Amino acid sequence: MSNALKQYLVSAQSRVEHALDARLPSAGILPKKLHDAMRYSTLDGGKRMRPMLTYATGKALGLSEEILDAPACAVEMIHVYSLIHDDLPAMDDDDLRRGKPTSHIAYDEATAILTGDALQALAFEVLANDPSIKVNPESRLKMITTLTKASGSQGMVGGQAIDLESVGTTLTLPELENMHIHKTGALIRASVNMAALAKPDLDSVIAKKLDHYAKCIGLSFQVKDDILDEESDTATLGKTQGKDQNNNKPTYPALLGLNGAKQKAQELHEQAIASLSSFGSEADLLRDISLYIIQRDH
Ligand code: IPE
Ligand code: IPE
Ligand code: MG
Ligand code: MG
Ligand code: MG
Repeated sequence: MSNALKQYLVSAQSRVEHALDARLPSAGILPKKLHDAMRYSTLDGGKRMRPMLTYATGKALGLSEEILDAPACAVEMIHVYSLIHDDLPAMDDDDLRRGKPTSHIAYDEATAILTGDALQALAFEVLANDPSIKVNPESRLKMITTLTKASGSQGMVGGQAIDLESVGTTLTLPELENMHIHKTGALIRASVNMAALAKPDLDSVIAKKLDHYAKCIGLSFQVKDDILDEESDTATLGKTQGKDQNNNKPTYPALLGLNGAKQKAQELHEQAIASLSSFGSEADLLRDISLYIIQRDH
């Protein structure tokens, strides 16, 4: 990882941690168990790649971090809700997440379901209401639409549905790509596009290039997640290694082999970099993030 990215990661992680803390109901507010569970899964964990992408896109466009706190928090809340539900016994049935017991293990299944539901609602409340978003109502509405579409049946949830119905089957490469683009790519794309929407006068050609960058890294992110599930270890990952094979999931390594999957990730990284060709050094963080996504160890 470049030194510039390392420094940026630390500062953006701390920024989003505070921003999330400020927006989550305190654990003393009723219902206490639910609010405690929301804070347990959201705070103090995860790489925060999606908020990071929102801030880094803002940096490429000359926007301040303050006006991006709300979309950065909103996309992370949706992501955390997706992880809580992904780990449920009815889905991937995992007991470890971000190095801690999953929500349904630390609390109980019903609480985990409600925690995900409440985080989803809070994400949209934040986007709709947060005074730190200093954009016109039209842009705010576009941000809300972007995140709702990325979250729903034609976004992350749709991808999760394909994932579950594909267990034990062999998907073709285009089918696998479609599943990954939805279950993981959609929220990553929204992280970038919400920052672009915070600049209402943004040239539509530039907006398209950013969207293409995000599409490439959204897919490479899940390709790498599949690779790590095969070749990393539980302690490094903070989640149980080898679950995909155990659960009979279609993955890139299963279809292309580990080397084929790594080559695919590299190609996507190169496409992502090419999409940023009209930017100068202001987009270096976005370039570094793309490389980090395919080189990370967790
Ligand atoms: C894991 O996402 C689930 C996927 C969508 C691949 P991350 O790898 O971003 O998980 P955290 O947020 O760092 O825990
Ligand atoms: C999850 O994909 C994508 C989500 C929408 C949460 P995975 O099931 O591969 O994520 P991990 O490996 O459990 O983090
Ligand atoms: Mg899953
Ligand atoms: Mg899973
Ligand atoms: Mg995985």
